[in-house]
Amino acid sequence: MAAATESASSRNAVLDVEVPRGLKGVKVAQTEIGNVRGAEGFFHYRQYDATELAKLRTLEDIWVLMHEGELPADQAASDAFRARAGALRVAAFEQVSQLVPGLLAGADLSRVDVLATLRALIAAVGAREGWKPWLDLSSDEIKDQCSRAVALTAVGVAAIYRVKHGREMVAPDATLPHATDYLRMVTGELPSADKAAALEKYLDLTVDHGFNASTFTARVVASTGADVSSAVVAAIGSLSGPLHGGAPSRALAMVDEIGTKENAEPFIRAMFARGERLMGFGHPVYTTMDPRSVMLGGIADTLGGDQIELARHVEQTSLDLLEEVKPGRGLKTNVEFYAALVMRSAGIPDELFTPTFAVSRVIGWTANIREQVENDNRIFRPSAEYVGPEAPQTVPTI
Ligand SMILES: CC(C)(COP(=O)(O)OP(=O)(O)OC[C@H]1O[C@@H](n2cnc3c(N)ncnc32)[C@H](O)[C@@H]1OP(=O)(O)O)[C@@H](O)C(=O)NCCC(=O)NCCS
Repeated sequence: MAAATESASSRNAVLDVEVPRGLKGVKVAQTEIGNVRGAEGFFHYRQYDATELAKLRTLEDIWVLMHEGELPADQAASDAFRARAGALRVAAFEQVSQLVPGLLAGADLSRVDVLATLRALIAAVGAREGWKPWLDLSSDEIKDQCSRAVALTAVGVAAIYRVKHGREMVAPDATLPHATDYLRMVTGELPSADKAAALEKYLDLTVDHGFNASTFTARVVASTGADVSSAVVAAIGSLSGPLHGGAPSRALAMVDEIGTKENAEPFIRAMFARGERLMGFGHPVYTTMDPRSVMLGGIADTLGGDQIELARHVEQTSLDLLEEVKPGRGLKTNVEFYAALVMRSAGIPDELFTPTFAVSRVIGWTANIREQVENDNRIFRPSAEYVGPEAPQTVPTI
């Protein structure tokens, strides 16, 4: 809290404060959106335990909670927002169906990255419609663009994937829940209730997670007064990194590559010998089990299959060896490990693991953008320690 409660007189004082690398643990803003209590293995959206919300409420209800600060009060309010989300997807498809074929026309489709194309799509919508810096917009206009960015992400990811693979784009069905319809737009088939529910729980659990890198990125860009599409596009870029959202396919790829239980220990030891990190383990905030991985592991168990048995074995072997090789670092299973398994079991293709993360996280990004701009915005402007050659030196002439 201290970071945001400076007095007017201290506002322009030149500070010379050293903070941990990566700003680890530094409070850089105040938020009412949610928080992660790493030592307790607990995270919450607003005042509610996020895992309880995932068990008891819909993704659309969580969307309302994150954006409006309150859950829909009754079934009628919940249904009304579900219908609104459906209408937003239908409107998004009008643009997406026009833009995506053009974005990918003439491309070597085997090289196309879905998340990178999503960046281009959202940037294109913002550019074509002239989304203005939020400083020039009303609160309702900002809210409208944020809601549209959420719908564009789900509809866009599905359409990009289908065009990339030479299939017809699937139009949204406004009557379906957001998660079910996303899965349907990706696969072209109405999913079974248990697959839709598994995916929805994954999406519920990944809507927001404190000041993670992509959320911080969204807020930094929004803090400049830039338009909503710029902030969302920047956040997607941040999410794409393997140290953040880009890891889930690698975690499951590692399990796939290990292939058999007997191979787990030698494989992981060889990774350590090469100085490599185990994907799906370790977290900047959690020093105990990540509650998302606990819940997703349970969902993966219920979906069943051979792979879950192997994954459980790889997890336990990894935890044992991490404790042996990196004792005391508190390296535990993170959300990515079981996220990939749940997504694959629900019918999400591997290449859409990170884009599907964006489908839920965009709800958190846009809630954060709105909070940033509506609450006494201040531009983020930290400093760096200069460690280059002493300056000034004589400029050489030639
Ligand atoms: C997520 C991650 C970036 C967090 O990093 P961090 O909290 O900043 O931790 P650090 O990079 O400071 O690592 C602390 C120590 O643990 C080790 N470590 C961290 N994650 C590790 C992993 N997955 N495998 C092996 N060793 C790991 C580091 O080598 C370091 O060891 P050292 O003390 O001997 O130098 C990191 O754990 C990681 O790279 N994990 C794999 C990628 C992943 O799963 N990403 C998804 C995140 S949700």
